[in-house]
Amino acid sequence: MVCLGNICRSPLADGILRFKAKRENLDWVIDSAGTYSGHQGENPDPRAIAVAKKYGVDISYLVARPFSKMDFDEFDKIYVMDSSNYRDVLKLASDELDEQKVEMIMNVVNPGNNQPVPDPYFGGDEGFDEVFKMLDKACEKIVQQLK
Ligand code: 4NP
Repeated sequence: MVCLGNICRSPLADGILRFKAKRENLDWVIDSAGTYSGHQGENPDPRAIAVAKKYGVDISYLVARPFSKMDFDEFDKIYVMDSSNYRDVLKLASDELDEQKVEMIMNVVNPGNNQPVPDPYFGGDEGFDEVFKMLDKACEKIVQQLK
């Protein structure tokens, strides 16, 4: 799961997918990263932690890290939140196989729409609620598709 800062959207997606994978007894390796390294080492934004907690998901232990070229070797699927993340991640791809791993996450719900998960960082709490609900829908679809 990849966003810009790895403190709002991608840790939410990461925690939600881990929660659902555990529920289904799936032995998946799930992680998240940011295309911008400025928040490296930080826990998720307190507003992201709070909205996840409200829906029963703990993301307080996650730690931000930058996306790396090596992630293409570690992971089969790389979900990005918006088109800017998509471009930044693709810049680090080595070949077509790497490129094919990258997908806008809301395309699993609405294929081909390229709908972004809006960046809630500069907004209010409602933004985080909306983002949680979007990511919950997408992660449910991912689990049903890939399990
Ligand atoms: P995220 O949100 O990409 O969902 O983690 C942001 C976090 C930090 C910044 C921007 C977006 N920032 O500019 O520091």
